[in-house]
Amino acid sequence: MKTEPVKVSPSTHWVGANETEKRLFEGLWAIPEGISYNSYIIKGAEKTALIDSVLGAYQEEHLEKIRKVTDPADINYIVVNHMEHDHSEALPKVLEAAPNATLIYTPMAHQMYKAFFQHEPKSLIIRNDETTVDLGGKTLRFIRTPFLHWPETICTYLQEEGTLFTCDLFGTFRRLPENKVIDTDIKEIDKYIPDSSKKYFAGVMTRYRDYVLKAMEKFNQLKIEIKVIAPGHGPIYTANTKTVMDLWASYSRPDYSRKTVIAVGSMYGTTLKFIQALTKGVEDAGGEAVVIDVINDEPAKALAAIMDAPALLIGTATYEYNMFPQIQHLLYLLQVKNLTNLTVGIFGGYAWGAGGAKHLTERLDQLGFRRIGEPVEVRGAPTQEDLERARSLAKAVTEDAFREKRI
Ligand code: FEO
Repeated sequence: MKTEPVKVSPSTHWVGANETEKRLFEGLWAIPEGISYNSYIIKGAEKTALIDSVLGAYQEEHLEKIRKVTDPADINYIVVNHMEHDHSEALPKVLEAAPNATLIYTPMAHQMYKAFFQHEPKSLIIRNDETTVDLGGKTLRFIRTPFLHWPETICTYLQEEGTLFTCDLFGTFRRLPENKVIDTDIKEIDKYIPDSSKKYFAGVMTRYRDYVLKAMEKFNQLKIEIKVIAPGHGPIYTANTKTVMDLWASYSRPDYSRKTVIAVGSMYGTTLKFIQALTKGVEDAGGEAVVIDVINDEPAKALAAIMDAPALLIGTATYEYNMFPQIQHLLYLLQVKNLTNLTVGIFGGYAWGAGGAKHLTERLDQLGFRRIGEPVEVRGAPTQEDLERARSLAKAVTEDAFREKRI
């Protein structure tokens, strides 16, 4: 879906692109509904700036859009809020057409730019939170907001309009509708926030939750009045500015729900036979059970469910004397995303040789999870007695988690 530039304020045009080809974002996260790579042209009375760029695959489309808004040779500044490839790959192409432009970025982004593109551009290096450039009645201020989600990230504030260009902060999966960018113009805005936004946060930002809160604190301290959020992915928020900031704050703290996630990896469905009994156990403790099938549910959905859950029941089939591979992958993601502050319980099964529950137990203990009870592991199908044990385990895990998190 090729789109046109969209005027989003008297000074600003969206000149980004929608992802239409890739199945996975970052090679990791399923994006069946795509994603947008947002880039903006801001024109003042005297000067013009480009905020961020797009993935290389869309560089021609990007430049074509820029040309419809301004002569690229007239671009004075290119602001690099973030150097990850989805926002920077098209920069060399833009610079060919905008040879007079000065790049604005942090010292680390400057080093990354040179390493990525073997080129030394004209640069304005941001070393504090006070630097501004005047475009002629439109002033850009650069705020250092590291680890959102790389160390070099900044946000850019268009002072006269109260617009904060945040790149990945407040971003979301899901491409933009044709030629619509602003939240109030998008009928299905509730599909972006909270659903796609939470999955995006889970996949991209979870490890850096503290930095999200620090950035929001900094905006307050610097008295940055945010009327509009223009992120690097997804809609521009005008009517939903507070909603999206509140959502991200709640993802980051996090605000725990009274729920227990049951994540299960089953080869032939035997391990799934525990689900009903486990659900009853969670309900016995006054919780809600959320089931994640690690084979059919995408990893970002699993992380989004787990990130505000105080309790997790993990079920594994035994595969080659060990855990089911997708359960191993889930544990790896929980480790690197720092999502190990949970109460956990284990269930599972095997046909001819045990090992899944044993390895899962060892790994959870190594990672520092708060493990409750003994694994409920069975050979073949669970008996009524096994199901009762599973129900008791789910109750105990859920009660412990709610007590621990005081919810
Ligand atoms: Fe959207 Fe971290 O790149």
